[in-house]
Amino acid sequence: MARKYLIETFGCQMNVHDSERFAGLLEQAGYEAAADLSEADLVLLNTCSVRERAAEKLFSRLGEDPIAARVDGSRPVIAVAGCVAQQEGRAILRRAPYVDVIVGTQAARQLPALVEQALASGRAQFDVDRYEDVSFPLGVARRGDPVKAYVTILEGCNDHCAYCVVPSTRGRERMRSKADILAEVQEAVAGGRREIQLLGQIVNDYQAPDDPACDFPALLEAVDAVRGVERIRFASPHPRHASERLIAAIRDLPHVCKHVHLPIQSGSTRVLQLMRRRHTREDYLRLVDALRHAVPAVAISTDLIVGFPGETLEDFECSLSLVAAVRFESMFSFKYSERPNTLAARRMPDDVGGEEKARRLAALHDVQREIQMEGYRAAVGGVFDVLVDSVSRRRAQEVAGRTTGNVVVNLPGRREWLGRTLRVRIVGAGSNSLRGEAAEVGD
Ligand code: 5AD
Ligand code: SF4
Repeated sequence: MARKYLIETFGCQMNVHDSERFAGLLEQAGYEAAADLSEADLVLLNTCSVRERAAEKLFSRLGEDPIAARVDGSRPVIAVAGCVAQQEGRAILRRAPYVDVIVGTQAARQLPALVEQALASGRAQFDVDRYEDVSFPLGVARRGDPVKAYVTILEGCNDHCAYCVVPSTRGRERMRSKADILAEVQEAVAGGRREIQLLGQIVNDYQAPDDPACDFPALLEAVDAVRGVERIRFASPHPRHASERLIAAIRDLPHVCKHVHLPIQSGSTRVLQLMRRRHTREDYLRLVDALRHAVPAVAISTDLIVGFPGETLEDFECSLSLVAAVRFESMFSFKYSERPNTLAARRMPDDVGGEEKARRLAALHDVQREIQMEGYRAAVGGVFDVLVDSVSRRRAQEVAGRTTGNVVVNLPGRREWLGRTLRVRIVGAGSNSLRGEAAEVGD
């Protein structure tokens, strides 16, 4: 009987896609997906370390039943992958001695062999080496989503923002070839995917190693031209590399969604400098103006950190005023969390205090919630293109999809609509989604 695997994923889209790759590698090695933990012979925890709480999740998960409870001979092999694996390496064994395999962010392809060695030797195996190669065999990843496909275009980051652990967990920036990327896009479309999500830590820093003329806007153009691609999204661009050509690509390429996730991190130029972001508040506001001037319907979302070391009340007010001025369609905001191997951890004491960070985060949420609600209410009565991407698990005859601006719309509908783009009339607004009705549906 085939051995069975179960993967639990924490963290970003890149991690979700890495898990799809792990699943494919394991299936190539003869494993099958387990229905639940009780039948798993191998449990892989694919971890995130972007903030402290994300990293702690791993150890609390490892300490829980039934993983640890099965340390009696019948237990599954336990493997840890992802950013915590890379960051902690062998040290994971000190807190969780029953872990069998530790596989770093650049060693994913070694997973099946490491599992075999752990089983054969009865000893923990680990590989957190830095492999430069970012190619990945075509057709192996087991895509978990029927409508959207993640395609990694570059891995790692050279920017060293002061708060960010990613350069140390994901390594230096390495580009995939344009040929590999386009082949994967074609394969995803042939497998029925309608939306391509291009991934990279700084996605718009892309430069094809196999085509000197192909930078990120040119890659968007090439993906846009692949037959069958209906929507293209990308995450995350850095404001510093957002060129006029990128704006023109969003304006002109028919399949590129009118949505940009553009992390700002702080509204204070002084804090942006401490963060080593290499752009100012004014640069960002100019960029937003240019985007909205070129593409009036564009939706802009962002990431913002409160309580970075040295952030004064005045600096925080700058973040509040920036959020009020830009009116983001959506925002992800975080309390600063000191991470190992970062410039801030070495040089900048984490001095804002937990309560004050919580207060600032709540104040920011209040402002954003109001802006978002106004935007949602304004959408009621309008008609939008919605790509249906899921079937409700809770309500029968209900589906969900997204507008090109990335707003979730729930509507009555059928499973057969998955993957179709419909004209949907908006009839109501919730706090995190809209309600709609299909305006016209063919068969
Ligand atoms: N503390 C808090 N938030 C962080 N982020 C990255 N590093 C940290 C940190 N040390 C946030 C940034 C980034 C998002 C993915 O996570 O806003 O854009
Ligand atoms: Fe988490 Fe960043 Fe690693 Fe993604 S790249 S898993 S967000 S630490």
